[in-house]
Amino acid sequence: MIYLDNGATSFPKPKGMVAAMEECILKYCGNPGRSGHFMSMKTGEEVYHARRSIAELFNIEDAERLVFTKNTTEALNMGIHGFLQKGDHVITTSMEHNSVLRPLKFLEKKGVSQTIVMGNELGQINPCDIEKSIKNNTKLIVVTAASNVTGTKMPLEKIGKIAQKNGIAFMVDGAQGAGTMYLDVEKLHIDMLAIPGHKGLLGPLGTGCLYVSPSINLRPIVQGGTGTESKSRIQPDTFPDGFEAGTINAPAIIGLGYCANFVKRLGIDVIAKHEEELICYLDEKLCNMNFVKLYGPEASKKTGISLINIDNIEAEEVTSILNNKYNIAVRGGFHCAGLAHKTIGTWDSGAVRISVGPFNTKSDIDKIANAIWEIGNSAVDKS
Ligand code: ALA
Repeated sequence: MIYLDNGATSFPKPKGMVAAMEECILKYCGNPGRSGHFMSMKTGEEVYHARRSIAELFNIEDAERLVFTKNTTEALNMGIHGFLQKGDHVITTSMEHNSVLRPLKFLEKKGVSQTIVMGNELGQINPCDIEKSIKNNTKLIVVTAASNVTGTKMPLEKIGKIAQKNGIAFMVDGAQGAGTMYLDVEKLHIDMLAIPGHKGLLGPLGTGCLYVSPSINLRPIVQGGTGTESKSRIQPDTFPDGFEAGTINAPAIIGLGYCANFVKRLGIDVIAKHEEELICYLDEKLCNMNFVKLYGPEASKKTGISLINIDNIEAEEVTSILNNKYNIAVRGGFHCAGLAHKTIGTWDSGAVRISVGPFNTKSDIDKIANAIWEIGNSAVDKS
């Protein structure tokens, strides 16, 4: 199969990741931080190395402030629910995924107000609109690094400066940016960063992280065993243990640690350049097909995504033909981000998302471009 659904999860995974996970499961996997025997301690050590490797990629000085989660959604919920309180105001954008918009909608009922800054038809956000939305009680600005629908990159550095200047916490949803954009938490003034393990970092599904800067006072939203302060009925709020209640997915985290080093060796700039070249090549071909509507900005202003519709044929049907007839995997329809579809004008239609990863080649792009050409022409013939 030609895999062009890296926005949903990356494929293939580095072979060394499988080896690292297998070694853990077969040779030493105890429960980290719970016992003093060799297997528990060895697993704890490897989890510690994984935490350090991931922290390094984001220029996180204190790796202990990086908490493992099961995905970006959990990380975002942990940050949003653990930080905001009744009476607070939060600013976000119309290009966010439901994993930001739904927790914020839920918190409205608990007395947290919000302003949603609208993007333009390319999905771009004007930082001045964010600044204009600041109120006396604004406590948090939450913005995605890049839209999961169009790939549009957000002006993080400018927004981070606005947040810092106004003493407001800045949270970034790194779902589509981690591993393909430099998300340096210091340079971008990021206070909380939600990171997926299984997308741009190339790690296993069911892994993610939340970075919380020392300036943030976060409440743990899950209570339980941490392996620390066991006699206390009160959940500790120390990092990382207080925020990782219950047994963590150590083999997957160790696999993710391998992948973080793999991405570091490849180079985020090299991956970003490769993906931009592929998308530029694809967009050029798509622009020459008059039955294709291409959304979002030019390749240099987005991550590895081309979002399209083909005249006279529904997005889901295109996806299904690509799968059944051409053996090509993409995602079609709506992308768990309703407001983003409203912003770019695909509220009624949804769209077909083609998303590349570091292992895709120009030949993959030629194949999908040819398939789209054939599908589009046959839809024109039928109309
Ligand atoms: N959030 C993932 C996507 O955009 C699953 O496809």
